[in-house]
Amino acid sequence: MIVLGIESSCDDTGAAIVNDSKEILGEALQSQEEHKQYGGVVPEIAARAHLEHVDEIISVCLQRAHINLKDIDAVAASAGPGLIGGVVVGVMTAKALSLALNKPFVAVNHLEAHALCARIANDICFPYLLLLVSGGHCQILVVKDVGSYERLGTTIDDAAGEAFDKVAKMLNLGYPGGPMIEKLASTGDDSRFTLPHPLINSGDCNLSFSGLKTAVRKIVESYSPDGILEHALLSKQDTADICACFQTTATDCLVKKLEAAIKYFKQKYPQGQDLVVSGGVAANTYLRSALKTLASRYDLTFAAPPIRFCTDNGVMVAWAGLERFRKCYTNSLDFKPRPRWPLDESAPKAPGAGGVKA
Ligand code: KG4
Ligand code: ZN
Repeated sequence: MIVLGIESSCDDTGAAIVNDSKEILGEALQSQEEHKQYGGVVPEIAARAHLEHVDEIISVCLQRAHINLKDIDAVAASAGPGLIGGVVVGVMTAKALSLALNKPFVAVNHLEAHALCARIANDICFPYLLLLVSGGHCQILVVKDVGSYERLGTTIDDAAGEAFDKVAKMLNLGYPGGPMIEKLASTGDDSRFTLPHPLINSGDCNLSFSGLKTAVRKIVESYSPDGILEHALLSKQDTADICACFQTTATDCLVKKLEAAIKYFKQKYPQGQDLVVSGGVAANTYLRSALKTLASRYDLTFAAPPIRFCTDNGVMVAWAGLERFRKCYTNSLDFKPRPRWPLDESAPKAPGAGGVKA
């Protein structure tokens, strides 16, 4: 079984071909540089860039895989949630290929692609507890099966990656902010500033990062002679210390909420054995190591995708497409791309050829 997957829901144009032996036969990825000057992704520019590059990315992927299009059994694409212009490009391309090749089309929920991605490199059985932390989402879920999720908590404001990006912007570190914050934090003192832990005692699994972000803003402004953020006079060490304090506090919040989720998970799903983290922020090694420690405290196995598959890529879409395809969860060609698509809504109603209509 061989599946081609296309990713275009944000600022990465990706394609990959995987098989059911968990082999990545070929992949290609282009991360758009066009947004750097704006400090965030500009949807219209992203959509145009996907359109410009998607054919080339698929061709490169096929060349690397040394296979012909006709050897592919199904074509999958991120069909939402995401920036709709880009999602449309990937979905239309996948539908056109599906029609031309007479092979099924699989509409993949981008969050499900992050959720299942760790299974390509690790032996993880259902159910497992998942922390999904990306630029657009921050959720704690039980992955019960392909297409079957229980959401335990979510952010009530910013996503974790969004908070990294906004703090990086305040510190003039460029976009995306996560990797730069992680780098600087490694030389910083995480005890220098005290930051708030929003919602920490709320007794549920919900998260909030907006107060944390505002607290960082106030610290940065306090280093400005006129109180204007952009005029802040921060030394390299000041910046590193702020990064370290922010990263540690954000991680503490995630760990605390996951701890509550683990207790629930262990009680309701005693057969579950794994704690998984995925999404762009899962590339953060400080977070990964904190979660590894947490998992071992509760006798769970910690797993995460390889770092390069944490941020958006074609492999995760191809793999999720394959997992859906082998359960016969295919989609008709009138499937409408979805800018919003909660993961716990994506449960297929009735498996079968021709499959699930949205
Ligand atoms: O999953 P992703 O590529 O896109 C979305 O689906 O949103 O995640 C991108 C996010 C960005 O906010 C980026 O700053 C964050 O992941 N990120 C990181 C790291 N690498 C990427 N955050 C913290 N530490 C990192 N090393
Ligand atoms: Zn993503």
